[in-house]
Amino acid sequence: MKDEALLRVRRLRKYFYGPRSLFSTERKVARAVDGVSFDVRKGEVLGLVGESGCGKTTVGRTILRLIEPTSGCIEFKGRDITHLRGSAFRQLRREMQIVFQDPFSSLNPRMTVGAAVEEGLIIHAGANQKRRFLSHESNIGEGTPGQTNISPDHDNWTDPEQRRRIVTHLFDRMHLPPGIWDRYPHEFSGGQRQRICIARAVALRPDFLVLDEPLSALDVSLQAEIINLLMELKADFNLTYLFISHDLSVVEYLSDRVAVMYLGQIVEMAESSRLYAEPLHPYTQALLSAVPQMDPTANRHRIVLEGDVPSPDKPPPGCRFHPRCPLAEDICRRQAPNTLDLDGHIVKCHIVERQRSGEGRIVAEEEPDHLATDAASRRS
Ligand SMILES: Nc1ncnc2c1ncn2[C@@H]1O[C@H](COP(=O)(O)OP(=O)(O)OP(=O)(O)O)[C@@H](O)[C@H]1O
Ligand code: SF4
Ligand SMILES: [Mg+2]
Repeated sequence: MKDEALLRVRRLRKYFYGPRSLFSTERKVARAVDGVSFDVRKGEVLGLVGESGCGKTTVGRTILRLIEPTSGCIEFKGRDITHLRGSAFRQLRREMQIVFQDPFSSLNPRMTVGAAVEEGLIIHAGANQKRRFLSHESNIGEGTPGQTNISPDHDNWTDPEQRRRIVTHLFDRMHLPPGIWDRYPHEFSGGQRQRICIARAVALRPDFLVLDEPLSALDVSLQAEIINLLMELKADFNLTYLFISHDLSVVEYLSDRVAVMYLGQIVEMAESSRLYAEPLHPYTQALLSAVPQMDPTANRHRIVLEGDVPSPDKPPPGCRFHPRCPLAEDICRRQAPNTLDLDGHIVKCHIVERQRSGEGRIVAEEEPDHLATDAASRRS
């Protein structure tokens, strides 16, 4: 069911607090993620785009609880996981995995690639054993590449033989050469290392993967191979992706919906086809105007953005984009725009709100809080 939310994020904030200076009690606060709300529907690819430093990685790491949120609420499979601890948290670790941008630094150079992928299975073996008795799910194991015809016997992660078979099968599935178990990361190319990292993430049979710029360290030819592999794996293993990228063409190709971030906030979000055909926010329009066109006769006016994304410890007042926005008006400097929902196309801009008034609904700022409130009452 594509419309069912696997992940619900409400008013998520992640602030990084700097050290106190000698002459002041005040600390710098980097508001890396500042009130972000979105759903990731079961089986979809949600693309997350924006310039460097706008908070994409911080969103990904916070929803996976690799770093703790400052406030807000994260629900996964209908359950509040914002403050999950103990064995339930360890189980969550298995269900939500991440593939990082840099396949060079994300593998331990002193560990063989077989051991690196097997490691997660060893860590989660006990919990998986329990799960096996509680469910009749099929599993990855033997089978021909491209298929998941997996015998439940191969779901036994406590057995070293079974683990070896699972990992070997996965390497095969990732189109890696045979017999690589005892080789070290430095013996592989960038593309092969990224395949090993993906194998490591998928080995635990997660439901949800954060893909944080998984292509940006690779050559264009290798990027296409990894994209195809990711789409095959998504279908084979019923995965849901949050796909973080700078590359708007790749995001358009891969994503069902796209969220555009600017300085810690989502400024526009819509179905991919709708967002690319009719971007409403001036920032999205500027980003898309810079995407190379396949059709040389297409006449897309390039909007050049002046300056960089401001520092998240000093976000501009009003609309955060106003110092760089070619359309900025007086109100933009004074007042933060509302979040407008135009039948599933979300946008935060005074001008759009004025032009489309009456068409959509304003998302009340307090509305997303109901999850946080529910969470708080559940904890108390
Ligand atoms: N541990 C940290 N301590 C302090 N500030 C941080 C920390 N991690 C990230 N930041 C700041 O938070 C902001 C968002 O960083 P983040 O890495 O999430 O951006 P990004 O959109 O992923 O950028 P890129 O596209 O370059 O990967 C940046 O200004 C960054 O400097
Ligand atoms: S609110 Fe104003 S400054 Fe912000 S994007 Fe819209 S027009 Fe530009
Ligand atoms: Mg990043």
